[in-house]
Amino acid sequence: MSLLVPNVQELAQTCNRPDQQVPDRYVRPEAGADEVIVGHGVSAAIPVIDLAKLLHPESSKEECAKLGSACQQWGFFQLINHGVPDDVISDVRRDLTEFFSLPMEAKEAYAKSPDDYEGYGQHFVVSEKQKLDWGDLLHLRLRPVESRDMRFWPAHPPSFRNSMEMYSSETARVARCLMEFLAMDMGVDPESLMEIFRGQPQTLRVNYYPPCRQAGKVFGLSPHCDAAGLTLLLQVNGVQGLQIRKDGRWLAVDAPDGAFVVNVGDTLEIASNGRYRSIEHRAVVHPEKERISAAVFHQACRNATVGPLPELVTKDGGRPVYRSMVYEDFMKRFFSAKLDGRANVEGLRI
Ligand code: OGA
Ligand code: NI
Repeated sequence: MSLLVPNVQELAQTCNRPDQQVPDRYVRPEAGADEVIVGHGVSAAIPVIDLAKLLHPESSKEECAKLGSACQQWGFFQLINHGVPDDVISDVRRDLTEFFSLPMEAKEAYAKSPDDYEGYGQHFVVSEKQKLDWGDLLHLRLRPVESRDMRFWPAHPPSFRNSMEMYSSETARVARCLMEFLAMDMGVDPESLMEIFRGQPQTLRVNYYPPCRQAGKVFGLSPHCDAAGLTLLLQVNGVQGLQIRKDGRWLAVDAPDGAFVVNVGDTLEIASNGRYRSIEHRAVVHPEKERISAAVFHQACRNATVGPLPELVTKDGGRPVYRSMVYEDFMKRFFSAKLDGRANVEGLRI
């Protein structure tokens, strides 16, 4: 499913020496090509959604309209007052940071196999010629609980599994809540949307981006869209690096500490019949500091047919904008290609 490539954390040890260069396979000529907008104003512009306001009867309607508009115009928002306890977040941050600081042999005990995505390693490498991302990943299935394969769940640090369990159930709760408000915003029966996400399948991708002396020449994560429904991204160690594509330019996201950066994935764009947008995004790396981020993906269930919701197709004059596909096949398609902007979702457009 993905070709074996070097561990980047290890590679960085040699490449970051003053007399060394980043290997050609990591050099991205397009890295400096587009304008990047950085600064406080940018983050202020990205919609902020307040979950406490969504849940409060007096402010719910107004906040729900804001949420809907964020998903239509931006496909991205910052979620505050999400109700996930601070200690759940700080525990998971501590344990993820500790995991990546373990010696290589300890991490390799959780190495992914070439034919599945779960475990520690690299992804989306489909050809020997393809350019590579400056990062390592840890990928786990979190929900449903039966889908967990504990062989891949780090046993060190010893608190890891418990921290992750707490984090998983808290984020699943938040995602479920957001989905219900999204159904309301679209004017569909929440059950018809929830049916696609029955059992709340959830996966985790932790991104570890080592520092890179030639940071401007590489990508931590290539431009892509997320395949799932909703993604909740957490900045694990306070180093920023996410950039999102908005009106042809890249905006650097500077997420407030403890907030989630939430984005619409391809599955939700398709289910919404194009109302909500799955936006292209990428990650850049820091010249001196390591960066860790954790994305929790809320997936459709394997045997669900992912397609525009029938109620919305009717509203839209009987015109579905995308083909329907069984989710399992949709994900196979996603994992068999390299990350490539909006290619995945555009390929399903009618
Ligand atoms: C992802 C992702 C961005 C980041 O994991 O899908 O987009 O900032 N990560 O690491
Ligand atoms: Ni992503």
